[in-house]
Amino acid sequence: MSWFPFRKQKSTQQGKVTAKEESQPIEVILQGRRYRQDVPYVLPKDLGEINRLDFQHHLLKQAIKTNHIASISHITEPMILDVGCGTGRWVLEMGKEFPQAQVNGLDVEIPLVAQEMQEANCAFVVGNVLKGLPFPDNTFDYVHQRFLASALPANEWPRVLKELMRVTKPGGWIELVELLHRVEPLGVAGKQMSSWIEQFCAQRGIQPAIGENLADLLAALPELKEQQVYHYDLPVGTWGGHGGQLLAKSHLSAYAGVKPIYVEKLQVNPANFDAVYVAMLDEWEKAHAYSRCYFAIAKKQ
Ligand SMILES: C[S@@+](CC[C@H](N)C(=O)[O-])C[C@H]1O[C@@H](n2cnc3c(N)ncnc32)[C@H](O)[C@@H]1O
Repeated sequence: MSWFPFRKQKSTQQGKVTAKEESQPIEVILQGRRYRQDVPYVLPKDLGEINRLDFQHHLLKQAIKTNHIASISHITEPMILDVGCGTGRWVLEMGKEFPQAQVNGLDVEIPLVAQEMQEANCAFVVGNVLKGLPFPDNTFDYVHQRFLASALPANEWPRVLKELMRVTKPGGWIELVELLHRVEPLGVAGKQMSSWIEQFCAQRGIQPAIGENLADLLAALPELKEQQVYHYDLPVGTWGGHGGQLLAKSHLSAYAGVKPIYVEKLQVNPANFDAVYVAMLDEWEKAHAYSRCYFAIAKKQ
């Protein structure tokens, strides 16, 4: 089995891709979990992950009490884009909150909710942000991108941010939200899990703690004004009440989602993985652990 290494396609002298690459399947199933092979994204793309992402969406909204930090309420008919929209939940909620808006979600797959959605002002489009966004320059008043740390190689971030900027109207806002992969403070088990995450992400050039670099990435783009970066520490574990309990559940579900690849690609012993998984729960309770989430907004000049 081959994994998408995010390399440039090799060309023949005539400039065609080789037959082997043309026949490369876009997905692989490992121990019942489905993963895309045509993008560097490291998390599963299946029903289990849809449930986790929806769950994570609701718990984040419960914690920060909003779906957006950038101020867009004054715009009469805002054009909104969500890059890497996942389950489409954010798109649908924004469509309800802003009935005059047109809210577009872009992802490598159309979300399941698109089949039965009632919101006439929401639309979903298939696209790969690493290959460019299928929209003209200056289209959107607000471009939102959340939790793509696990999808974009570190060296692609500057190019992706320029692409988000290209489709944003002058005076429009870009908003980035990224959760760190590390649950702090790190105990022995937490260190081991973080190390597996980092090792696997490194194979695809992904920096799972890219949230810490958002301020620098934005600062490198002087066309973006009013740059603001915040972080919010979300409790993980029952010590943090209902929200903490929910986030612990979401994290455990994410780890369960990557176990099949770590066993396959990092030769992690499954029993060892399970022991670390269980030990982390205890560490989170004892240390009153938290997950740091970064929010960054900037306005295009
Ligand atoms: C961790 S999920 C986050 C989903 C959603 N933004 C949220 O906050 O719930 C990452 C999403 O990015 C999508 N994705 C991965 N690589 C992508 C790419 N190159 N272009 C567009 N979307 C991508 C995945 O399919 C997945 O739905």
